[in-house]
Amino acid sequence: EKFEETAIIIRQEEIADDIYSMWLHTDQIAAHAKAGQFVSVYCNDGSRLLPRPISICEIDKKDGAIRLVYRVAGKGTAEFSGMHTGAQLRIVGPLGNGFPKKEKKAFLIGGGIGIPPMLQLAKELNCEKQIVLGFRDELFLMDEFKKQGKVYVATEDGSAGTEGNVLDAIRENGLDAEIIYACGPMPMLRALKEYAEKNHIECWISMEERMACGIGACLACVCQSKEKDAHSNVKNKRICKEGPVFRAEEVEF
Ligand code: FES
Repeated sequence: EKFEETAIIIRQEEIADDIYSMWLHTDQIAAHAKAGQFVSVYCNDGSRLLPRPISICEIDKKDGAIRLVYRVAGKGTAEFSGMHTGAQLRIVGPLGNGFPKKEKKAFLIGGGIGIPPMLQLAKELNCEKQIVLGFRDELFLMDEFKKQGKVYVATEDGSAGTEGNVLDAIRENGLDAEIIYACGPMPMLRALKEYAEKNHIECWISMEERMACGIGACLACVCQSKEKDAHSNVKNKRICKEGPVFRAEEVEF
């Protein structure tokens, strides 16, 4: 079930270079959302008709609020980043399928702007959690994640934690898990898919990075699945409609 609402900005701040955190008051979306889902945010500037899909970083059901943490990557997100407390935004959601939740020793892995949705998942999961976050250089959301479990960091420039990527951090710390939940750039997801296959670990990935409109209109998010149709043609999946979360082995990318 999805809802279209006029959400009101409770507060917004820049938490790292070009990365903004926005708390929004919503009636229905906060009440129905779960970890791994996203909302489509419409621009008030009528010249940009397609919305921007932004994943949900935190959900506060008690106060009817959601937190979006996003990177300014174009005119739409630049417009959002300039808005202040009390401003209104048209949003549709919650969209997408979200992460399954299993009681297994877990890796929660986020890379770059794929980090925010892992926070709500960490809050919802009831299991042993090892949170592995890969940043370019500047860290963000660290205090929030540290409340949810043990956090391991990798940075490309080695300025914090392990120098390298999330798999380097896993190896350097000698970690293991029975299940992987991950969101981040495609090369990271590809490496995790391979790592999970080799080590026989259940692996769930959010491919939200590949989304453009988030509402099934642009087809920029089509990927091939392992499924075949009745004529043995490969079945395509739209990440924004059938995802963004997939079992890693079910998709080709
Ligand atoms: Fe546009 Fe899926 S993101 S169709």
